[in-house]
Amino acid sequence: MLATHNISFSYGMVQALRDVTMRFAPGQVTCVIGRNGVGKTTLMRTLMGLSRHSAGSVNLGERDVSKLAANQRAKAGIALVPQGRQIFPKLSVEENLRVGLQARTDGKRTIPDEIFELFPVLKQMAKRNGGDLSGGQQQQLAIGRALAGDPKVLLLDEPTEGIQPNVIQQIGHVLRMLVTERGMTVVLVEQYLDFVKEFGHAFYVMNRGRVVAEGATSGLTAEVVEEHLHV
Ligand SMILES: Nc1ncnc2c1ncn2[C@@H]1O[C@H](COP(=O)(O)OP(=O)(O)OP(=O)(O)O)[C@@H](O)[C@H]1O
Ligand SMILES: [Mg+2]
Repeated sequence: MLATHNISFSYGMVQALRDVTMRFAPGQVTCVIGRNGVGKTTLMRTLMGLSRHSAGSVNLGERDVSKLAANQRAKAGIALVPQGRQIFPKLSVEENLRVGLQARTDGKRTIPDEIFELFPVLKQMAKRNGGDLSGGQQQQLAIGRALAGDPKVLLLDEPTEGIQPNVIQQIGHVLRMLVTERGMTVVLVEQYLDFVKEFGHAFYVMNRGRVVAEGATSGLTAEVVEEHLHV
C-alpha cells in the first residue's frame, strides 16, 4: 500500500500541496483528477521523490520512504511515467527501455519479452530513435520503460494527453491487466473522465493543492464533476 499522510510542498511562495492524505490500494487504479494547476504533477513528483515534501510522510507498505531519493524509491518499486512522456529522443527505443532496467533489484539486464507483448509496436520500432515515434508510440515507450524496472507501484501522469483513441484503449487494457493479474498499485493522473470511469476504481479530486473529494469511481456523479471539475 502506497500512502501519503498530510504532505505539503511549496515552490518558494507557491504552496502546491496542502495536507494531502491519500491511500493507493494494490490491485486498483486510483485516479487523481482536478483542473489545470491544482497540484497533480507535484503530487506525482513527490511520490517519486523528485520533489521533497516539507511536511508529512510518504509510506510504501510499512516503510517510510520520505527521505529516499528518486533512484532509491525506484529500487523500492515505484516507477513514474511523467507528464509529456519525457522519453530520450536521441536514444533508440531499445536504449530507452534499457534505462528502465536500472531500477531492477534482480540484476536482470535484458528487456523482458512481456513489454514487447504488451506493446508490439515497440518491437517493430526497436532500432528507431525515440524521437521518430508518434505521440501514442512514445507514450507506450514511456510506460514500457517504467515497466522494465519491474515496479510494484506505477504512477502515470496524464498518459492519454494528446493520444489517439485506439492507443488510449490499449493503454487502459494494459493498466487493467496490471492491477487484476499482478495486483499492481496504479496511480493515474487523468483529465479524461471517460477513461477514469472505464478503467479507474477509486478517485481523489484535488483543488488548489488539497483533496476536496474522494470515493469509488462509481460515485463520480455529474454533481461531483460539476462542483469540482468544470471550469
Ligand atoms: N517549477 C515550478 N516553480 C514554481 N511554481 C510551480 C512549478 N511547477 C508548478 N508550479 C505551480 O504549482 C502549482 C501546481 O502545479 P502542477 O504542475 O503540480 O499542477 P497540475 O495539476 O499537474 O497541472 P496540469 O493539469 O496543468 O498538469 C501551479 O500553481 C503551478 O503554477
Ligand atoms: Mg500536471
